[in-house]
Order: sequence, then C-alpha cells, then structure tokens
Amino acid sequence: MRDALPHYTCACGRSYVPDAARWRCDCGGPLDLAAVPFTWRPRSTEEGLWRYADALAVPSLGLTLGEGLTPLIRASPDGDPGLLLKVEYASPTGSFKDRGAVTLATVARLLGAERVVCDSSGNAGTAMAAYAARAGLRAEIFVPEGTSAKKVQQIAGHGAEVTVVPGSREDTATAAAERVERTGAFYASHVYNPFFHDGVKTYALEIFERLGTAPDTLVLPAGNGTLVIGAYLGFAALRDAGLVDRVPRVVAVQAERCAPVAAAYTAGAREVTAVRPGRTAAEGIAIAAPVRGPRVLEIVRDTGGTVVTVSEDEIAAAHAALASRGLWVEPTGAVAYAAVSGLGTAPGEVVVAPLCGSGLKASL
Ligand SMILES: Cc1ncc(COP(=O)(O)O)c(C=O)c1O
Ligand SMILES: [Zn+2]
Repeated sequence: MRDALPHYTCACGRSYVPDAARWRCDCGGPLDLAAVPFTWRPRSTEEGLWRYADALAVPSLGLTLGEGLTPLIRASPDGDPGLLLKVEYASPTGSFKDRGAVTLATVARLLGAERVVCDSSGNAGTAMAAYAARAGLRAEIFVPEGTSAKKVQQIAGHGAEVTVVPGSREDTATAAAERVERTGAFYASHVYNPFFHDGVKTYALEIFERLGTAPDTLVLPAGNGTLVIGAYLGFAALRDAGLVDRVPRVVAVQAERCAPVAAAYTAGAREVTAVRPGRTAAEGIAIAAPVRGPRVLEIVRDTGGTVVTVSEDEIAAAHAALASRGLWVEPTGAVAYAAVSGLGTAPGEVVVAPLCGSGLKASL
C-alpha cells in the first residue's frame, strides 16, 4: 500500500519517495505530489470522502468519520439562485479541514508512523486530533495563544496533547517543527504536507457532482491556502480528464488586518512578504507568512481571479447576515461570504463560497 503513494516533488526539481520523516525539500521549500491517475467514478458504497477514492492519490484504509458530502445550498431562499454556499461546518469536527485530515492520517498510517505532530490556528488541529484518535495514532497539537477555548477543549477531548505556544502563529509553527526534528514524529502539517491537499480536492469534486459542471467563480478564504490549492487541484483534475472545460476563477479572500497575499497581488509580485498582522476575528486565516503564498498567487492569476480583503466590520456584517438566515459560522467562516457582495458578479453567474467553520467553536 505504501508503494501506492506518489512521490513528493519540489519546484527545485528534487523528488522523494514519501517517508514518515520527510516534511519538506532539502532546499527548504514545500513539497507537492507527482501526478496521479484520476478516474471519475464516485462510489456510493464508500463512506466519507472515499466516495472519490478513484480520484485521489491516497489509497483508502477505510479510515473515516463521515467527512465530506456537505450540503450546497442557496445563500438565501429568495435571493440570487446563482449564489451557493457549501456548508463545510457540517463536517464531523466542524470545518473543511476534515477533508485533509483524513488523507493525512491515512498517509501517517501507511508510512508506519505512531505519533503525529501538527500546528494549527485551531481547526486543522481539531481535525488532526480527531482523525489521529480514529486511526489509533498519538497526536501532539501546537496552537497559538488566543486560540478559541472550544477548539483547545475539542483537541484535548480527542486525547491529543495540546501545547499552547506564546507569541505568533509563526512561533507555533517553529515549536511544532522543532518537536518533529527532536522526536522523529510524523509532521501532519496542513501547510507542508501535500497529501492534505489531496483530500481537500474533494471540495471541488462534490461541487462538480452536484452541479454537473464547474461554477463560474469560487470565493475562498486564504490563510495558508489549503482550500484554494485543494479546490484548484480538484477542478484542474476534472479539466484534464475532459469533464469540465475550465477551472473556475478563484477569488482568494484575506482579512484586511492580515493580508500578505493580497499585498503581493496588488504589487504584482510573485513572492509573498511577511506582514505584521493586526488582530482579526478571522483567526483561521491570520497567517502573516504563508509558506504556499506564491502558489495561491499563481492559482489566482492562472484562473483569471483576484485577491480581495474584507474589514472587521464586513466580517461582522456577513456573520450577522448569515445568522439571520439560520447559518451559524465562526468569524473565519463568514469571510468568503463577506467578499461576495463586493465582487460585482454578472447576472446568471454561478458563485460558490464555503461556510468553512462552525460558530459553535468560536464566535465574535
Ligand atoms: C474556518 C476556516 N476557514 C478557512 C481557513 C483557511 O485555511 P487555509 O489557512 O488553509 O487557507 C481555516 C484555517 O484554519 C479555517 O479554520
Ligand atoms: Zn526543493
């Protein structure tokens, strides 16, 4: 089974056979996956996102908590029929991160790991803790100080060891990486490990299966960019298989107070310079130095999209508007919706935005 995994590749030209100790390239850069065969054959008999097993790089070990297959609903019953919301907070741990956690925990098992380490602003940590518990793996999760109490409680509740790291989100990442280097644990990083993106691809596959086509526009929150990259990879695979004619335009959304990718986009840059972040309610996307920021920029430009920012007031207004329609998201979960009204979409345009995290874990 382990041999069934594709190689890691890097933009510098190196490639590696996956093993539990490898989490980045010798050049220091993040790894991608070599191309894998893609077959469009949703299996209604499989649970969770193994429904799309034939389209994924990670082979199924049957590990699932019933993630994915989230509802795609109209933003309002009497509003624009083209504006659709994907209710990602209906996933088992309350966010889309379950999609990547299930493939990453499966890879950890395939590579023979017994312990996993992960750093997260909260939701990836809760997802990794849950899937590690389900997979019989010991988990250590590093979160920055200020992470919502409910997320910390959820991580600990799944039996993971939680370390709250003082300082910035980047300090948390450094602490986790040091732990990995010291203990040899598998680094179940949604930032570095490309098998996480493999699971997130199913966000796109589900939209395609529901609509029978690609929407015109995907509006996606961007911190480290796992949803941007995963959704892009899913639609790119569908395009390469001749099932859709193009990848939707990708609009990446950042919080005005922490917007390094938006700043690079506006400057026409290919690299992303770290910013000094202000405090934002959108804790899930408060990433001052996103490792895969250049990839997010590339995706936005390749698809004819853009990067936009939303203010704290806009996030609060979107949160309230969603709540008034029965949708209870965490502040980060309102970010994509907050950006939609400013996009100036054309009549008939089909736009999909995720409600990516649950309001039961964090609120304004
Ligand atoms: C609810 C929610 N939405 C969006 C994101 C952004 O994901 P990424 O940092 O991979 O861009 C996160 C990340 O933690 C999140 O928790
Ligand atoms: Zn490299």
